[in-house]
Amino acid sequence: MSIVYLNGEYLPMAEARISPMDRGFLFGDGIYEVVPSYDGKMVGFGPHIDRMNDGMQAIGIEFDWSHQQWQDVCDQLIEKNGSGNLGIYLHISRGADSKRFHAYPEDIPPTVFAFAFEIAPPPVADRAKVKGYRVSTTQDLRWQRCNIKSTALLGNVMHFQHGHSEGNNETLLYNADRELTEASACNAYIVKNGTVITPPLDNQILPGITRLILLGVLRQDGSIPVEERAVTMDEVFAADEVWITSSSKEVAPVVEIDGKPVGNGQPGDVWEAAQKLYSAGKFDY
Ligand code: PDD
Repeated sequence: MSIVYLNGEYLPMAEARISPMDRGFLFGDGIYEVVPSYDGKMVGFGPHIDRMNDGMQAIGIEFDWSHQQWQDVCDQLIEKNGSGNLGIYLHISRGADSKRFHAYPEDIPPTVFAFAFEIAPPPVADRAKVKGYRVSTTQDLRWQRCNIKSTALLGNVMHFQHGHSEGNNETLLYNADRELTEASACNAYIVKNGTVITPPLDNQILPGITRLILLGVLRQDGSIPVEERAVTMDEVFAADEVWITSSSKEVAPVVEIDGKPVGNGQPGDVWEAAQKLYSAGKFDY
């Protein structure tokens, strides 16, 4: 039985209750995080909490827990749910109001919810063993504040479903200029002639923590050049390798886009080198 955290209490998931007037439920008015944890060791904990605080500040939720307070909740969830490969989901909504009214209400306490769920083991940096992802593509029709990790995920859900309904694992998204933004739940990269290229941080993409760690370890190592710049869909289809990253996947090689092979249709050697560096450096963040 999964033990969750809700507003100061640890209790079985089946007993957790929130009000139907919670603005997270009515409006998707909240911020969330997913922090990966392997054998009790979290990856990127500090940056995840910083991003959650940035999100809360952007939408005017006043809630000022220290990193230590969040760490205590995560540690408790890991302890109570068995420390294997876990994603720790943290969620703060603006709280339960007495009426449905769009303006931010004053003086209601935020709803704080957290739970742990099993995630796949981290990928082994071995081209022969890794699962290659197959993806669809579609125009990015989400809102223009994708840098905020909002719980209002219907746009992402619809884009993910597009790929899923085509039998694929993800959906790559592009803007009105046919430039790559990200995927429905991942950041996206191409590799061309040995250089890793990824769209820059702006309002069109989430500033992924896996992205932050990956670019950090690549730059520190220095053997694989990195560029942050706009990437056209023509470049995506002509790339030697395409990758997607997220907290639960780490660096995932894409082997097929809209039914066409990426490069030679196999995970690439730059991917293998990058995932190796990521595996070695991820606990330093
Ligand atoms: N998804 N872009 C989007 C739209 C995402 O939803 C995510 C994460 C990422 C990668 O961010 P990070 O590396 O910090 O996980 C990029 C999470 C895991 C989710 O919604 O389940």
